[in-house]
Amino acid sequence: MLETTLSELESRAVSLIDGADNAEALENARVEFLGRKGSLANIGKEMGKLAPAERAQIGKLLNAVKQNLESRYEVRKSGFERAELDARLAAEWVDLTLPAPGTRPGSLHPLTQIQRELEELFTSLGFAVVDGPEVETEWHNFDALNIPPTHPARDAQDTFWLTDGHLLRTHTSPVQVRAMEKFGAPLRIIAPGRVFRNEEVDASHEHTFYQLEGMMIDRDVSVAHMLYFMKSLLTAIFKKDVTVRLRPGFFPFVEPGFELDIQCLICGGSGCPVCKQSGWVELLPCGLVHPNVLRSGGIDPEEWNGFAFGLGLTRLVMMRYAIDDIRHLAAGDLRFLQQF
Ligand code: DAH
Repeated sequence: MLETTLSELESRAVSLIDGADNAEALENARVEFLGRKGSLANIGKEMGKLAPAERAQIGKLLNAVKQNLESRYEVRKSGFERAELDARLAAEWVDLTLPAPGTRPGSLHPLTQIQRELEELFTSLGFAVVDGPEVETEWHNFDALNIPPTHPARDAQDTFWLTDGHLLRTHTSPVQVRAMEKFGAPLRIIAPGRVFRNEEVDASHEHTFYQLEGMMIDRDVSVAHMLYFMKSLLTAIFKKDVTVRLRPGFFPFVEPGFELDIQCLICGGSGCPVCKQSGWVELLPCGLVHPNVLRSGGIDPEEWNGFAFGLGLTRLVMMRYAIDDIRHLAAGDLRFLQQF
């Protein structure tokens, strides 16, 4: 009786195992026949009721069936596993001979590029690059530069005042004073940095822009020395002849003071929004350091004198690359930045 059941069971199991078309069907068949509560296990339990001789015979048969099914199961199972692996390998295959998609490296902002070029030029001429705070004292930004509280020059630089009496520096000139205080004379420094003015923003005005301050103090410094350095600077930056003009200019911290203008490189002098239709761009105000300023820095004007200049770095970048709107510089637009 059990013998027949067993052989029927075997042929059904064989057809299910051999005929399983996926790993799940195969697993179901295993559970049904070979599982702990499967058909073969059930038969094993019933064997207990048999007489010893019959039990031995059926036991043998049961083992043979079990081995047969197990080995068929293993064959099918490894077949499915191999198929799965093959499918994955096919799906995840990478062609290492294809060209890489390429990375797009970042680039330095044009302001940084110009700043570094100027730092290189001036350090080669014996100048040190120094820094000063963007949040300044009123004294360093104005008083020490010979701009007393009632002086009209204070109105010319619309100031962002902070609540504690400090201010956002309106120019890099306070760094002159800090450098004199720190290093004394003789002195050769440049101070590139960010400055702030409470101004209406348009194509040529920003509330935040960059200047590069320069100062040289020694014995018997003259306007001729100053002009030599100013010319070296412009030649290094534009790498070509630019038309310049020198006008008297008024700044309380220099005497005499000058405005060095360059002919507008955007319109070539015919007039455009950047040069406010004048054909000229104020680029390099400069002069001989006022004795009061030397005194503020603790330097004796009887013994020392010098020149100073305040280069408009932002303007310079605009001139060099013919950028017609100052607002592009800080807009963070990749279409703009990728051109540098
Ligand atoms: N600090 C002035 C400004 O921002 C520029 C300037 C003029 C700086 C003349 C100087 C100088 O050092 O000598 O308007």
